[in-house]
Amino acid sequence: MSHTRREFIQTTAAVAGAAGLSSMALGKMKPIAPVAGSDEIRVGVVGAGGRGKGACVDCLSSSEGVRLVAIGDLTFDITRNARDTLSGTAVGTQVDVKDENLFAGLQAYKRVINHPEVDLVILTTSPGFRPAHIAEAIRAGKHVFTEKPVCVDPAGYRSCMESAAKAREKGLSIVTGTMYRRQPSYIQAVERIHRGDIGRITGGLAYYCSTGIWYRNRQPEMTDMQYQLYNWYHFTWLSGDQIVEQAVHNIDAINWIMGGPPKAAFGSGGAMTRPADSEIYDHIDVDYHYPNGAIVSFKCRQIPGSTSRVINTIVGTEGTAYVNPGGSHIADASGNETFRLKHGGINPYVQEHAELIDSIRSGAPRAELEATADSSLTAVMGRMAAYSGREITWDFVTNSQEDLMADEGAITLDTPIKSPGMPQPGQYKLS
Ligand SMILES: NC(=O)c1ccc[n+]([C@@H]2O[C@H](COP(=O)([O-])OP(=O)(O)OC[C@H]3O[C@@H](n4cnc5c(N)ncnc54)[C@H](O)[C@@H]3O)[C@@H](O)[C@H]2O)c1
Repeated sequence: MSHTRREFIQTTAAVAGAAGLSSMALGKMKPIAPVAGSDEIRVGVVGAGGRGKGACVDCLSSSEGVRLVAIGDLTFDITRNARDTLSGTAVGTQVDVKDENLFAGLQAYKRVINHPEVDLVILTTSPGFRPAHIAEAIRAGKHVFTEKPVCVDPAGYRSCMESAAKAREKGLSIVTGTMYRRQPSYIQAVERIHRGDIGRITGGLAYYCSTGIWYRNRQPEMTDMQYQLYNWYHFTWLSGDQIVEQAVHNIDAINWIMGGPPKAAFGSGGAMTRPADSEIYDHIDVDYHYPNGAIVSFKCRQIPGSTSRVINTIVGTEGTAYVNPGGSHIADASGNETFRLKHGGINPYVQEHAELIDSIRSGAPRAELEATADSSLTAVMGRMAAYSGREITWDFVTNSQEDLMADEGAITLDTPIKSPGMPQPGQYKLS
């Protein structure tokens, strides 16, 4: 261990400990190959939109010795604006992105990921590109923070599983944007459910119901491809539909509680309020059947003027657990409260980066990709059930040939693209 590294670790441990951010044990620390030769962790971001910028702030503020050195997005304007915005934040002194390290275009991700200075990449584009970006990062030997969902179709799922296996072989850390898994109110409630506080789980309710979602109007100069990339939420190959893009948060919490993905899904859905060219449903209801016999009734909705409700209610033979974003509580079979915790006091968005940086420095890589890929595919399974009107099994979806992202490497901003339109149950082709 070099003198510099030792000094650096002492400083980091003191700061992280004082901030309550770090679980790292000094005794366990050892240098690891992927950041060898540098005490600093240098970050590149691919997809510098709302969450990309937010994740950069979270990452840079999570730990000492972290610097942003490269930004990639579809246009130079977006990258420059992101650099300016980030430079004006509280972590501005850690933003050190030279002009030559701003990359634009659909292949910009390769330039960021393979940049020799970059140790860790933040992947925050629209979700359809995620499996290819993750695969490139692991191939290049880079640690990863990836937003959820990590895939929008079965082909992407299998790609993620391959990347996860390679990351394990190479000792690379992958942390996913599953912030509920860092929230003390979730963690403590799930621990109690797992130790049997509500008895055997028999079922549950999970809702991700909100009002509307953004819609970005087409600009006159845009090609069809540029428009879809810009207004990506409304195109299934890019977002996966609401159930995958957003409600995956609940689905991930339910899978975490159940100990893995469901074995079958049956559901329905449709769209009453989406703009004319949107391909995605505005409501989906799915019953998920888990291997332990429990059935979770799930719904997601984005309808302006309707009631927002995001909840996970888990019913057991000896009680009920309410595991919700605003706090969790558990009641026994007589309705007496046995546990209550409101949120828990930490910022889970920062915590996920603190855990990632600690894992890199301590040589104990985190491997979160498989679980998040399982949850993303569980959401895809629900989407397929709703779109087709058929029961979809886990066996079917893991082997399905559905691949919404046609040859990712061949896409250009001028590639012609036609929308398949709104899926019709009974006619939707499963493959
Ligand atoms: N965990 C959370 O709470 C949370 C919150 C918000 C968003 N997210 C996730 O973050 C992701 C991004 O969402 P957002 O709200 O920042 O969207 P956004 O539209 O604001 O940003 C996406 C950015 O990616 C860029 N981009 C798209 N395709 C690209 C490509 N192939 N190469 C390079 N850049 C590309 C776009 O130009 C845009 O700047 C989504 O997966 C979303 O689910 C997570």
